[in-house]
Amino acid sequence: MTGLKTLKDINLSGKNVILRVDFNCPIKNQKVLNTFRMDMTIETFRYLLDKKAGKIIVLTHLGRPQGRPAAEFSLKPIVEIFKKRMAGLGSGKEEVKLIDYNKDIRRCVKQAQAIKQGVVFLENIRFWEEEEQGDEKFSQELAGLGELYVNDAFSVCHRSHSSVTGIAKVIPARAGLLLEEELKKITEAVENPKRPAAAIVGGAKLETKIPILEHLAKKYDKVLVGGLIAVELCREKAREVLEKLPRDKVILPGGYVDSGRHDIDEESAQRFSRELEGAGTILWNGPMGMFEKEPFDQGSRIVGQAVVGSGAYTLAGGGETIEMLETFGLLEKMDFVSTGGGAMLEYIGGKKLPGIEILKK
Ligand code: 3PG
Repeated sequence: MTGLKTLKDINLSGKNVILRVDFNCPIKNQKVLNTFRMDMTIETFRYLLDKKAGKIIVLTHLGRPQGRPAAEFSLKPIVEIFKKRMAGLGSGKEEVKLIDYNKDIRRCVKQAQAIKQGVVFLENIRFWEEEEQGDEKFSQELAGLGELYVNDAFSVCHRSHSSVTGIAKVIPARAGLLLEEELKKITEAVENPKRPAAAIVGGAKLETKIPILEHLAKKYDKVLVGGLIAVELCREKAREVLEKLPRDKVILPGGYVDSGRHDIDEESAQRFSRELEGAGTILWNGPMGMFEKEPFDQGSRIVGQAVVGSGAYTLAGGGETIEMLETFGLLEKMDFVSTGGGAMLEYIGGKKLPGIEILKK
C-alpha cells in the first residue's frame, strides 16, 4: 500500500486528463537513444483509453533547457516515436498532436482546448521559465487543460515544479499506474527486503548519495560501494562520513584499474560478485566505473553479470544505471528498473518528495 490517491478509484469516463510523464529519454542529434521511460508509462495510457477517458494532455520535460525554448530539447522526435506506440493502443486511431511553444502559455492552452480528442502534447514544459519556479499563475493556466491531473513521473517527484505539484493544488490529482508501482516496489525492497539484502551504490556526486549510503547501511546486510563515490569516500574530506558508516557492512574496492581510478580493478569486481552470491535482494544504483569507455566498463560488467545471475530479487534505478544496463544488455534481466534517478536517491534516503506528498490520501 502506498497511501496514494490512485487512478483506480475514480470514474474516468469522458474526463480530460492532464498526464505528467517523464519522457526525458537520452537523445543525440535528434535521435532518441532509448525509450525505456516512455515504454514504462504505456500501461497508464492503455488504462486511460480502456476506461474511456476523454482527451489526454501530456506534459513532460526533456533535458534542462533553463526556461527557454531550444530546438535541441524539442519534443518532436519523442512525439514521433510515441505515435508509433499509440498505434497499438485504444482504437489505434487516436491522433497524437504536438502544440508548438508560445511564450504565452494561454495561447497553447487554448489550442489544446480546441482539440476535442486523442493525445495532445505541449512542447517541453521546461521551455517556460515559470515551470521550475512552480509559479502559481502558470500552474492555474495549465490546470485549465483538463479536469483531472495524473502524475506518472516518479523521477520528477522531488521537484516542486508547476507540472508536478502546482496543477495538483488546483484540480483533483491522482497517481498514475507506474508511479504507484515504482513506489510500491522501491518501498518494499528498502523496508522489507528478502534477506540477505545487498546494495550496490556507485556513480558520482557523493554528497547526493550520503543519505542513501547511511540509510541502506542500516537496513541492508551489505553495501558495496564503487564508482567515483568510492574514490571520494576515501579522501580526507569525507573522513567523517566514512567513519559513521558501519565498516562491517560497507565494502569498498581494494584497488582500481588505473591511477586515474576510472574503474574498480578486476579483483574488487570479483570480490563484489562473491559478496552477492546467495543474496535475497540486490538494489543497484550507479556504475562501478566509467562504463561508457573501454576498458573502464569491466568492473560494472563483471558485477552486472553477478547481479543478474544471483537468483536474487533485483531492482535498479537512475538514468546512468539504466544506460549502463542497456549497454550491457542487462536491462530486461532485472526484476524491476525504476525510472527515478535523483528522486529515487532522495526517496531511499528518507526524504519526503513533494510530488508524492501532494497525492497522499
Ligand atoms: C531525471 O533524469 O532524473 C529526471 O528526468 C529528472 O530530471 P532533472 O534532474 O533535470 O529534474
